[in-house]
Amino acid sequence: MPTYVVTGGAGFIGSNFVRLALERDAGLKVVTIDLLTYAGNLANLVGVPLERHTFIRADISVADAMADAVPDGADALINFAAETHVDRSILSPGAFARTNVVGTQVLLDVAREKGVKRFLQVSTDEVYGSLGPEDPAFTEAHPLVPSSPYAASKAGADLLVLAAHHTYGQDARLTRCSNNYGPYQFPEKLIPLMLSNALDDRPLPVYGDGRQVRDWIYTDDHSRAILAVLEGGRPGAVYNIGARCERFNIDVVRAILRELGKPESLIQLVKDRPGHDRRYAIDPTRVEAELGWRPEVSFEEGLARTIRWYREHEDWWRRVKDGSYREFYDEWYGDR
Ligand code: NAD
Ligand code: TYD
Repeated sequence: MPTYVVTGGAGFIGSNFVRLALERDAGLKVVTIDLLTYAGNLANLVGVPLERHTFIRADISVADAMADAVPDGADALINFAAETHVDRSILSPGAFARTNVVGTQVLLDVAREKGVKRFLQVSTDEVYGSLGPEDPAFTEAHPLVPSSPYAASKAGADLLVLAAHHTYGQDARLTRCSNNYGPYQFPEKLIPLMLSNALDDRPLPVYGDGRQVRDWIYTDDHSRAILAVLEGGRPGAVYNIGARCERFNIDVVRAILRELGKPESLIQLVKDRPGHDRRYAIDPTRVEAELGWRPEVSFEEGLARTIRWYREHEDWWRRVKDGSYREFYDEWYGDR
């Protein structure tokens, strides 16, 4: 049975990928390795077939723990594990350097030692920095000019992955995706935060003038692109992933309020994020042309599905917001 190791598989996108990969291939086994930081939640993996899924709680930046956790000769290791929230990286950059940079190097080393056949690093468009309003979208040739500690740590990891390919001939490849949204996203990120606040008639804090632009993609489309790159992409190559869907933040927030039938008076313009990137936009021509991947979910359809999911899974986001989702983890796995 082919085996994929998925690090960070209890997070938002990782859990989506685990579910999708297991559904698509009934012969696949997945080993999920995740530290269950505040962003990891086993409830995100509810419903995965237990006979083909193993969960290990461990830290990707600890080499011994990874040597124990990663099975010999696995077919692939897909690394989603990361500290991911820009605002947190401004407050505590150290954790970002440790997990995102050191953790990625540990995984590359362990993957080589254990004969893991392929390595895929899940990265972000934020490594390219910020665009002006008229600039063309990021291609893979765009220089790396990250602005936030989060983006800088992801850029550092990207360079280590490319170096491992160049130096050791390791089969390692990279995807750089734009902003994701969908079910199970932690309600600190724009769409689930605004959605859950609006459902409770609480204020929606929009940074600065709300005229920053993000390029949105539904999680399922991102996961499908990762599978396409993993199975059909080239070693040592970078693939940008995006759905050509740029929106002003304020328009996204207004669309959420419209869908929910809530008033725009809930919007509160608040102090801007320090060093806030103005615009991201991805040119996905390479992944489309080489691998035939296309996004399948429009923004309107994806947002409607996401809103429906948060309405129907109030227990999930309320337990995340009040902290009770963590109740049993330390009891089950020991305090880390
Ligand atoms: P997330 O914050 O929801 O999940 C991250 C997961 O990593 C959590 O389950 C957490 O417990 C785990 N983790 C953190 N530190 C760890 C460590 N030291 N050892 C083991 N596990 C650890 O993040 P996400 O939004 O699902 O993002 C997943 C990946 O995709 C990240 O690498 C991120 O940079 C990348 N990405 C995210 C987006 C986006 O819009 N969310 C866009 C492009 C790329
Ligand atoms: P976020 O979801 O944090 O993703 P990223 O910063 O990685 O793109 O934020 C998306 C955009 O929304 C970004 O321009 C910052 C803005 N934003 C707000 O205006 N208010 C908020 O409360 C949050 C969390 C984000």
